[in-house]
Amino acid sequence: MKILILGVNGFIGNALVRRILQDTPWEVYGMDLSCHKLEHSLDSPRFHYVEGDISINKEWIEYHIKKCDLVLPLVAIATPRAYVKDPLGVFTLDFEENLRVVRQCVKYGRRVIFPSTSEVYGMCQDEEFLEDESNYVLGPIHKQRWIYSCSKQLIDRVIWAYGQRGDLRFTLIRPFNWIGPKLDDVDAAKEGSSRVVTQFIINLYRREPIKLVDGGHQTRCFTWVEDGIDCLMKIIENPGGVADGQIFNIGSPDNLCSIRDLAVRLKDLFMRHPDHAEDGVYSEIVEEPHELYYGQGYQDILNRRPSIEKARRLLGWEPRTDLDSALKDTLDFFLEEMKDQD
Ligand code: UGA
Repeated sequence: MKILILGVNGFIGNALVRRILQDTPWEVYGMDLSCHKLEHSLDSPRFHYVEGDISINKEWIEYHIKKCDLVLPLVAIATPRAYVKDPLGVFTLDFEENLRVVRQCVKYGRRVIFPSTSEVYGMCQDEEFLEDESNYVLGPIHKQRWIYSCSKQLIDRVIWAYGQRGDLRFTLIRPFNWIGPKLDDVDAAKEGSSRVVTQFIINLYRREPIKLVDGGHQTRCFTWVEDGIDCLMKIIENPGGVADGQIFNIGSPDNLCSIRDLAVRLKDLFMRHPDHAEDGVYSEIVEEPHELYYGQGYQDILNRRPSIEKARRLLGWEPRTDLDSALKDTLDFFLEEMKDQD
């Protein structure tokens, strides 16, 4: 099988390529702006990496969509600070650029696995979000945070409509707060533009206060990236077409945790880490209102937990990694990386 991965240097892309090269004879064609997360894969003769931008290198992309059996367009801005700071950038990249790729998959009859998001459910009140039943609840237009959710929802609907018309073989995946090595770039975390786990780790490393937005009572289910990749591999394998036309939540419902609890757990792990057990001074955990942390355009998701019944039933998938192991391994990775950069 020949697979095209756009955004191959991203958090999910790099972990996926590594797994594909390790466990399968498949060939991967990948494009991204850079390749710093791909050092483990670049030497493989079955990995063909090209540096490029999906908004510029359109011919290369079209040619490779034609050439490959499966397309994973993983390019997206996926950090909440960007949703409020650069909503049009999010729309252009996450919706417009990806729509062109989806349409080319239709044109050339290629299968696509598209990354939707846990954010499409928005402020849904269901205890567990169900792919085919839960309602999507978004705030008013001036709460610009929702442009990401809304862009992803619209592209989900476009893909679904092409599928209904019989013009596209697709699967939509919804990762729920995957964490692990290479989640974000440390430089982004230094500016406060990364996802929460990376942010708290860099705060701890720099002895800066850990900020709980609005008190940190909101919850997330943090999912170990390799568990998520296990599920994605089953979707790619797609025995008997079981994943065709389906939407899958991919997350660890048992790893539900409030952001406050996350801060306490990470601080505790940091204080027990051999390199830091003797530090003496550690980050405080403080509270900050969202208006100050993100700005007026922000609104939060108070509870977010996936139902994974569909992935269990159709794919036989089960996440295996508990929260503390996932946090410890993520922390260890970033502490090593930051030590090397100092
Ligand atoms: C994220 C991103 O939108 C996407 O990466 C992705 O689509 C989705 O979740 C997912 O992975 O499922 P969110 O969970 O809100 O959304 O993003 P984080 O930045 O990781 O924030 C999680 C929570 O921590 C939020 O409630 C946020 O307000 C809080 N937070 C964040 C803090 O309390 N302090 C911080 O310093 C940073």
